Amino acid sequence: MGIYERYAAIYDASGQISFSLQMLPYLDSLLERHRVTRGSMLELACGTGTVALAMARKGWRVLGVDGSAHMLAEARRKQTQSQGEDAQALDVHWLQQDMRHLALGEPVQLATCLYDSLNYMLVSEDLQAVFRGVYRVLAPGGLLVFDMNTPWALATFWDDSTYVTDTQDLTVILESRFDAYRQRTTVKVTCFERQGDLYRKAIEEHTEQGYPREHIATLLTDVGFQIEGMYHCFTFEPPTASCPRILWAARKPGASAPSTDDPDASTDS
Ligand SMILES: C[S@@+](CC[C@H](N)C(=O)[O-])C[C@H]1O[C@@H](n2cnc3c(N)ncnc32)[C@H](O)[C@@H]1O
Repeated sequence: MGIYERYAAIYDASGQISFSLQMLPYLDSLLERHRVTRGSMLELACGTGTVALAMARKGWRVLGVDGSAHMLAEARRKQTQSQGEDAQALDVHWLQQDMRHLALGEPVQLATCLYDSLNYMLVSEDLQAVFRGVYRVLAPGGLLVFDMNTPWALATFWDDSTYVTDTQDLTVILESRFDAYRQRTTVKVTCFERQGDLYRKAIEEHTEQGYPREHIATLLTDVGFQIEGMYHCFTFEPPTASCPRILWAARKPGASAPSTDDPDASTDS
C-alpha cells in the first residue's frame, strides 16, 4: 500500500485539518505583505483541499494538484458538499500529478505548497525538479509560497516520538524515528477506524527529508527565483537556529513583479 490511501478518508478527522485552518489567515497576511492580488493559483500537494476550497471561496481560480487519488477524492467530496451548502460553483479544478513532473495548461500568479509537503522530496534533485516545474508555470512576477520542516524540527520532535489521537471512532498513532546521518524522519502511521462494532486497521509509512535553509535557498536561486521572505512560520520574524518550520516566499522575476524593497520582509538567516 502507498501513502495517503486509507489515511486520506480520516486525514481531516484525525486533526490534520487544523494546520490548514491556522494557515489560511496567515496566508492572507502574507499575500498582502507580498502584494499578491487575486487571480489564479496552483495549490500544490493540495491534499484534501481545505486551502484550495477556501481560496476558491475568496474568488481565486484554483488548480489543486496532488499525487494521491485518495486525497483528491476527499477534496472533490468536500467541494460537492460545500457547493450543496453554498449553492455556488467554485472555480477549482483537481489534477492528479506527481509534483516533480508538474504540467499545467495555463500560467498562475501564485503557487502554494503547504504543510511540509516539500519535505516528501527525499533527494535534492527532486526538490529542485519541483522548484523548476513551479517556476515554469508561474507567470512573470508570480510568487511561490511554501513551508518546510527544518532538520532541527525533525531531530527534536520526530525522533523516537509517539503521538496519539484518540477519539470515539478513530485512533491514530504516529511513531517516528530520525536518521541523524541522513537528516530524515520516518513516521509509522497506524490508524484504527471504527466500522460498526469493529475497527479497521491501516498502516502507512511517511518519510520526510530535512534540508539546511542555505541549500533550499541555493536550489531556489539556481532555478531563477528571488527569495523575498523567509519567516519563522506563522510569524514575520526571521527563523532562528531552533525554528521548527520555515515559510518561504520566492518570486519569479518579471515585468509585473511588485517592488521587493519592503524593509520588513525578512531574509535573514
Ligand atoms: C502532509 S500532506 C499535506 C496536504 C495539504 N497540503 C495540507 O496542508 O493538508 C502532504 C501531501 O503531499 C502529497 N504528496 C506527497 N508526495 C507527492 C508527490 N510526489 N507529488 C504530488 N503530491 C505529493 C500527498 O499526497 C499529501 O496530500
